[in-house]
Amino acid sequence: MRRKLAAGNWKMNGLQASLAELSTLAAEHAEASSEVLICPPATLIGAAVAASDGAIGIGGQDCHAEVSGAHTGDISAQMLKDAGATHVILGHSERREDHGESDTDVRTKARAAIDAGLKVVICMGESLDEREANNTLDIIGGQLAGSIPDQVTGENLIVAYEPIWAIGTGKVPTLDQIGEVHDFVRARLEKRFGEGVGRSVRILYGGSVKPGNAAEIFAVSNVDGALVGGASLKAKDFGPIITALDNS
Ligand code: 13P
Repeated sequence: MRRKLAAGNWKMNGLQASLAELSTLAAEHAEASSEVLICPPATLIGAAVAASDGAIGIGGQDCHAEVSGAHTGDISAQMLKDAGATHVILGHSERREDHGESDTDVRTKARAAIDAGLKVVICMGESLDEREANNTLDIIGGQLAGSIPDQVTGENLIVAYEPIWAIGTGKVPTLDQIGEVHDFVRARLEKRFGEGVGRSVRILYGGSVKPGNAAEIFAVSNVDGALVGGASLKAKDFGPIITALDNS
């Protein structure tokens, strides 16, 4: 059985005052059957680990591929782990777009993160043009093959399907479209890594998940949880998403 995962990506949002949201979530959802993960900006990771009191996992949003060295402004996977992080998001479309990250970059970072003992949340998704040209599965297939390193296990890999056109737009694919991609990802993972590993990897949906649409998305086949941006910033929004996942 795959344990459901509600993951929040705070992106470049969050100051010390935001830690109160984490304390609230940790208190309200300490008994959640789903796993809960928040990925705050790196400046807050240490404090977030303390504020979440072990009830919520804390992750980074990116890491460098090397362990240390002359890379001003970058953070290594080992540093995230040292700060108390358990996971790292890699290959988010905003990283791919803003920083020109390729599938190879993402795969190299993922290898470094796994070596450092982190679980990786590897993101992929098509643009609107690619969706409209009926290229979605080709794009996802390419990102899956290129972004995931060989040494993953069912426990240390999480895949997030995030259609770029659904991120922060309020637009969500139809449930059939979500199911089609998630079933495809599952089949590809089983083919490449074998049924045992392929069936254990959690596949998250991300892109405009809100309290109002979470339950119907969580009912789709092979949706094992969500990667949530805007609605993860406030406990009053993220809490009902966790509850919907618990009840799914
Ligand atoms: P929104 O939930 O704000 O659409 O963001 C999704 C996302 O990019 C999570 O990584």
